Order: sequence, then C-alpha cells, then structure tokens
Amino acid sequence: MQKESDPKPFKCLLSTMLCAILLVSPLTVFIFGFNISYPQSIFSSNSNISNSHGQIALPDSLHSEISHLQIQLGFLLEQLHNESSESKAITKFSDQVLHIAISLDKIANSLSGSYPKSPPSAKNEISNVDQDFSDSEEGEGEEQFMGGNIFNSGETYSYISPKPNRLIGKKNFLGVEALTPSIGLACAKMASNLDRFMSYKIHSTCPDDWQIAQKLVVHGCDPLPRRRCFTKSPPHYTKPFPINSSLWTQPSDANILWNNYKCRDYSCLVSKETVDQRGFFKCSSCFNISQRGWDIPTNESLSAEFTIAEVLGLKPEEIRIGLDFSPTTGTFAAMMREKNVTIASSTLNLGAPFNEVIALRGLLPLYTSIGSRLPFFDNTLDIIHSTLFLDGWIGAELLQFVLFDWDRVLRPKGLLWIDRFFCHKEAMKLYLQEFNRLGYKPLLWRVVPKNDKLGDELFFSAVLEKPIRG
Ligand SMILES: *[C@@H]1O[C@H](CO)[C@@H](O)[C@H](O)[C@H]1NC(C)=O
Ligand SMILES: *[C@@H]1O[C@H](CO)[C@@H](O)[C@H](O)[C@H]1NC(C)=O
Ligand SMILES: *[C@@H]1O[C@H](CO)[C@@H](O)[C@H](O)[C@H]1NC(C)=O
Ligand SMILES: *[C@@H]1O[C@H](CO)[C@@H](O)[C@H](O)[C@H]1NC(C)=O
Ligand SMILES: *[C@@H]1O[C@H](CO)[C@@H](O)[C@H](O)[C@H]1NC(C)=O
Ligand SMILES: *[C@@H]1O[C@H](CO)[C@@H](O)[C@H](O)[C@H]1NC(C)=O
Repeated sequence: MQKESDPKPFKCLLSTMLCAILLVSPLTVFIFGFNISYPQSIFSSNSNISNSHGQIALPDSLHSEISHLQIQLGFLLEQLHNESSESKAITKFSDQVLHIAISLDKIANSLSGSYPKSPPSAKNEISNVDQDFSDSEEGEGEEQFMGGNIFNSGETYSYISPKPNRLIGKKNFLGVEALTPSIGLACAKMASNLDRFMSYKIHSTCPDDWQIAQKLVVHGCDPLPRRRCFTKSPPHYTKPFPINSSLWTQPSDANILWNNYKCRDYSCLVSKETVDQRGFFKCSSCFNISQRGWDIPTNESLSAEFTIAEVLGLKPEEIRIGLDFSPTTGTFAAMMREKNVTIASSTLNLGAPFNEVIALRGLLPLYTSIGSRLPFFDNTLDIIHSTLFLDGWIGAELLQFVLFDWDRVLRPKGLLWIDRFFCHKEAMKLYLQEFNRLGYKPLLWRVVPKNDKLGDELFFSAVLEKPIRG
C-alpha cells in the first residue's frame, strides 16, 4: 500500500467564500494552526433537533441562513482586506470580524457534523464496495461521529482538504494559494456512502459502481473525485461508427458495460416487453435510434410538438450552440446536428445507458443532476430545449432554480424551448406563472389536452426569447 502523506487539517468546508478570504489573508497561518474542538453535547443533549446518531437534522432554512451569514461576513472581510489603510483601529476591527467568521464556521461545521477533526487512518483504503449500497446511513453515523471523523476513507479526506500549490504560499494563476473542491454538506449527510465510493484498491481497476456515484450526485454530493483507480472499460470495445452513420445507427452491444442495468443487451432496451421494468418509462422509445422527431408539422389543436424548422426559422442562422435537458439518447441533438447546430444532451442514466448511447452516436453527453449549476458561463448558449423532463412532479422551488440557471446561461435573445411540459389541469396555472416570471417574450405558445390519460392533463409548449437586460 502507498504511504499517504498526511493531509492538512481541513478548516472551512462550508463557506468557499470565507475560505478564499482566509487563504489570502495574512492571518492564514493563525487560522490553520487553530485547533477547533467543539462540545457536541450542546447540540445533542437537550434539544430535539438531533437524531439518534447525535447528528443534527436541521431545517434547510437554518442552513441557508448560516451560509447567507457566511457570505456576508466573507464580503465584509474582503472589503476590510481591500482597505489599504494601516490604521490600528481597522486592523483590530478586522480581527474581530475574522473571529466572528471563524466562530460561525465552527458552528456551521458542528451543526452539519461535517468537520473531520483529525486525519483518518488509511484503514479503509481497501475496497469495501461489495457491501450493499443503501440510501440510509443508519447504524454508521454514530460510530463515525463518536470517533471524531465523519469521513473515514483516506481518499475522501484527501479530496475535501484544501490542496496547496506545489510552492507553498505562492498564488497560482487563479489567485489562490490552495484549491478547495466544491464538496460539502450534502456529502456529509451521506458520509458512509461517499466513503464506500471512495474506498477502492488504489492503482487498480475501479469498481463498476456508477450507480452509487449517481445516487450521490442526485443527492447533491457532486462532483465526485477518484484519483487513483482506473475506470473499467467494456472488454470487447470496438471503435465507434463514423459520424456520417453513427447518428442513426444502433450502437454495438460490446461498447456498453451492462453489469448495472436491467437490460443486458441493446435489443432488450428497444423491446416492448421490458418497458415496465426498465426504470426509464419517461423515455421508453428513446432507444429506438431510427425514430426521428420534430420534423413533421402537427395539428396544432392536437399536439404541442413544434418542428425544428419552425423554431430555427424564428432566428435564421442565429442558433448555433445549445443544450437539450431531457431524458434522451440524443435524438434531438442528432436532428439539430443535421442543421449544423451543436447541442449538448444533459441526462442522467435513468436505469439505462443513456449517456453511453449519446456518446456512441457521436453526440455530446452532459452528465449532471437536476438543479445543479450548469457548467456553462453566463450569456453563452443560443438555445435550451427541454422535453418531458420537467413536468407535474417538479416543485415550484426546484423549478425556479432550474429556470433561473437556464436563464443565466442563455444569451440575450436566446431561445428557451419548453417542449411538451405536462401536468394536471389545475397545476398548469401555477407552472405558467413560474415560466412567465422570467419575463421572456413568447414567440410560440401552445396548450393542448394530453389525451393518453382521462383528459385531466395538459401539454404546454412554448418558445420564449430571453430579453436583453441592462
Ligand atoms: C422535543 O423535545 C421535547 C422537550 O424536550 C419533547 O417533549 C418532545 O417529545 C420532543 N419531540 C421530538 C419529536 O422528539
Ligand atoms: C476587493 O478588491 C478587488 C480588486 O481590487 C475587487 O475586485 C473586489 O471587488 C474588492 N472587494 C470588495 C468587497 O470591495
Ligand atoms: C461516410 O463517409 C465515408 C468517407 O467520407 C464514405 O466513404 C461513406 O460512404 C459515408 N457513409 C455514409 C453512410 O454516408
Ligand atoms: C423503431 O422505430 C421505427 C421508426 O419509427 C419503427 O419502424 C420500428 O418498428 C421501431 N422498432 C421497434 C422495435 O419498436
Ligand atoms: C386538427 O384537429 C382538429 C380536431 O380533431 C380537426 O377538427 C381539424 O380539422 C384538424 N386540422 C387539420 C389541419 O388537420
Ligand atoms: C451544414 O454545413 C455543411 C458544411 O458547411 C453544409 O454543406 C450544409 O449545407 C449545412 N447544412 C445546413 C442544413 O445548413
């Protein structure tokens, strides 16, 4: 086994902002030398917010309140740090603010139970992924909590610690002396599962456990690191089809690792018999690669499907890059590619090899959960299309996070194509209110009955144009 170098104690899991400040502050040495210990009993003995493991299950509002305060303090510290005055009063004042910030970080860390107090031993470096994976952390939290570590795996610990540049104390091109990964509270809530994911034989083949990773991702523990094992590949991988045929050709069975799917070959994915058990009911015909879409005009009182020609016709030559946020095997992206538009297809692997198939078709899969910040910069994409993903299941709050992040990445005058959003008649008003909140200009708009149920659901489609905002 490799000898691990001891990771530095990790001090600011929660507030990236504050961390950044602390890292560049002249008081850094003091902070990192500060040994934080915290009496758990205050939170677990006389209050009913602690669960049976002594971990605190706090309302989300309190978490957001705390991180809000951390951000505010971060700003205050940055301002003080920017203040070039050598005044003693300012220095003293900064010190006081910094102490408050540190206390707040301590409180936040203790509340979240996410603070690893000492580097864990390397005892778990050997894989224990053979154990059943479950959502529940029951029976494991307490032991870890009492032992003073939330995360037990050395790999997890190594990942969450700030990683200093090779030349200690020198800033890198990003202006920081150390980089800290964006892994936090959500991971602490599923510490044993993360540890399980991070416990593998180093320098050998990783376990084929993407479904554990996906569960972590869906629960907000994202992105997931693994630095020292090699991804398993399909043993008989053959080179993919050339691009002029790959778009519409069923990929070879040999190019997919089937171990974690109910289906064990491609014909199962397309066969009607398996529809009910496959877990990808939202897109049951997706895997029939020969099925096209969005190319035949429909009767507008019966169907809410617009054609691609109709939508691109709204802005000839202007739509070049975009995102499809749908349970998809890339058919929309393939259709758009034929129009010379580059589309990234964002989907999880919903019980079937969605991402593999998109890639084997020669299209770009984007593997992100719903509500995560999209890996695109502000005001960059020409179009966002979403079909069948967001519908009556989604709560208003999550929908707002999704819509406002789409808004962020869409360029001014870019198009948001809501494609057959469906929900119960009564709920439609509420959802339309959320879409309207964006203040976009409707270029196409259609609401039609959804006829495959008892007539109590509606389809809504629209193409909306993002305004230029001053
Ligand atoms: C919360 O605490 C109070 C007083 O300590 C107790 O009576 C009550 O049963 C507790 N509630 C729960 C849900 O544990
Ligand atoms: C601190 O200074 C930097 C660089 O001058 C500036 O970008 C930043 O906005 C300032 N921060 C605050 C909070 O004033
Ligand atoms: C794909 O391109 C190759 C080389 O350009 C060509 O020989 C082949 O006929 C093309 N196949 C199809 C299906 O168009
Ligand atoms: C796949 O789609 C094509 C075109 O719509 C259709 O002709 C074919 O029957 C479908 N195959 C299966 C297995 O459903
Ligand atoms: C569209 O569907 C409606 C309702 O079934 C029908 O009355 C109408 O004639 C159809 N229009 C066209 C152009 O087919
Ligand atoms: C896409 O680009 C190719 C190469 O520039 C061009 O030949 C083709 O006509 C374009 N297709 C469309 C639909 O614009």
